[in-house]
Amino acid sequence: MTPLGIGLQYNPEVAEWFPFHESRIDAVEVLLDTVIAPLDSPHVILPDRLAEIDALVAAEPTVIAHSNYGAEFGFEPLERTAAVLRHVPAAQRFGSPWMSDHCFYGDGSWSDLWSSPVQFSRAEVNRLAERASRLQELLGVPLAHENAAYYVPCPGADLAEPDFLAALVEKAGTHLHIDLHNIHTNAVNFGAYTLKSYLDALPLDRVVEVHVAGGSWSGGVYHDWHDSRVPEPVWETLEDLLTRSRPGAVVLEVQGRAHSSHTRELDPHADAELILGDLERAALIWDRVYGPHSRRTTALPAAATTTAGPGEPA
Ligand SMILES: [Fe+2]
Repeated sequence: MTPLGIGLQYNPEVAEWFPFHESRIDAVEVLLDTVIAPLDSPHVILPDRLAEIDALVAAEPTVIAHSNYGAEFGFEPLERTAAVLRHVPAAQRFGSPWMSDHCFYGDGSWSDLWSSPVQFSRAEVNRLAERASRLQELLGVPLAHENAAYYVPCPGADLAEPDFLAALVEKAGTHLHIDLHNIHTNAVNFGAYTLKSYLDALPLDRVVEVHVAGGSWSGGVYHDWHDSRVPEPVWETLEDLLTRSRPGAVVLEVQGRAHSSHTRELDPHADAELILGDLERAALIWDRVYGPHSRRTTALPAAATTTAGPGEPA
């Protein structure tokens, strides 16, 4: 897999004002659930988003497809899910180098579910591995499962969460998308593991993407709302993770009220500063581990890099 570098999630709240086309970002990640057409529509992509998405793909060839609610881990036949009918053709249209999905249950009303973590059990490893393996086959590129933040765990677990993920990718032949802030959120709220113990239990050679984000406290619970700067424990763990694995991209997630009505509205000026600051910090960590010319936007011929300068912010 060709390493891309540092990316930013392209979601409607940020896309309205963040200068994606002027910023030196190595990849953009599109939330498929925000652009796909309903299952009873003849379209794959919503017609009113098509021109925007095609322009994004044309201007930025490294678009990463990301799925939250494909229902591939639900109980409907896989061939009838949004994952197969919408996410696979959309990811192929984008030329996505891999596709990530969440380990959520889901059904036809996918946009109403957040967060519905799967049961961390041996029985579910066997059931889900079969579906994940088939989905990856249809996709034609690596399928990476993202560890979820959740606020109520699914009952009936007989495996620790990272052991479940390790067993799933081993049996399915699929890959990992590590969301460091999701691990941090669950560690803060439940205390069942730490960032380090979680990563130590995983086959890190299967990591193809990493998410970083921030969150907020509300009602005595720490929420993965993507509405603040990336916290220090996540930054500290990112360098360790990059040293022990070789992901294709580290992607920053930033959202406001689309994620929760209890959080703040994003401010185009202040939040552009927040985003650029976190992207730059992520790029500095990436460059420290992999070298100054290891990202898509910095991997230039030697003569060109003399002009551009190493370690230019993403
Ligand atoms: Fe994430």
